[in-house]
Amino acid sequence: MTAPLEARELSLIREGNTVLDGVSFTVAAGEIFALLGGNGAGKSSTLLTFLGFLEPSGGQVLVNGISVDSDITTVRDAIAYLPEATSLYGHLNAYENLDYFLDLAGKSAGRVAIDAALDRVALPQEARTRRLQSYSKGMRQKTAIALALLRETPILLLDEPTSGLDPVAIDEFHDLVKALAEGGQTVLMVTHDVYGACQVADRVGLLRHGKLVGSFAAENGKRIDTETVHAAFAERETA
Ligand SMILES: Nc1ncnc2c1ncn2[C@@H]1O[C@H](COP(=O)(O)OP(=O)(O)O)[C@@H](O)[C@H]1O
Ligand SMILES: [Mg+2]
Repeated sequence: MTAPLEARELSLIREGNTVLDGVSFTVAAGEIFALLGGNGAGKSSTLLTFLGFLEPSGGQVLVNGISVDSDITTVRDAIAYLPEATSLYGHLNAYENLDYFLDLAGKSAGRVAIDAALDRVALPQEARTRRLQSYSKGMRQKTAIALALLRETPILLLDEPTSGLDPVAIDEFHDLVKALAEGGQTVLMVTHDVYGACQVADRVGLLRHGKLVGSFAAENGKRIDTETVHAAFAERETA
């Protein structure tokens, strides 16, 4: 079966610097893959190549078996992307944001469907008619996830999705991502948070200076061991 996401010997040069160097991985349907790495490791750049915003200088990125450069529209239609800072509008409320961004994506949804999505992410009813500038980071993330749900994309790309969230909001967010994956969505998340990666991911790839230097998989129904990954992360960072 074709993997929803695949990087094949992906290399990337940005302004003369090698940012990714021969990175290969696949993410299977319904799988949560976390790319873990320190600042500047190339995590965000990896997501941007899957979206076609950065062009590989070597290798390939494929979405549902389609090379990103060959059909950017189909590729972007398949992906919901949560950047580090949400791109939603602070001066609009949740309904207005969702209407607007769904329209941009060539979709529409009635109030009932929008409320159902906001229920699913547990955004409080009273907040929905408030401008997003009054929201906590967690509430903005929920709204962004609701948009992804309404777009019904098979693939979700998340850039540091839990940074700045409090521990309860992080747990809620992880539960939501796991539920989406159980529903068949494919998730590629990038993060510098060892604990979060191990808590949510089926597989963790360790990225250091643009190279994939380690891989850890959840086995026998157990989560990936945080200590093991932390040790590898720390070792690699100082090596
Ligand atoms: N807009 C940019 N132009 C040129 N180089 C960039 C840009 N953004 C990031 N980089 C470089 O790419 C490398 C990887 O960055 P990035 O993918 O943002 O890493 P991460 O998300 O893991 O922190 C860094 O060395 C950074 O300096
Ligand atoms: Mg980043």
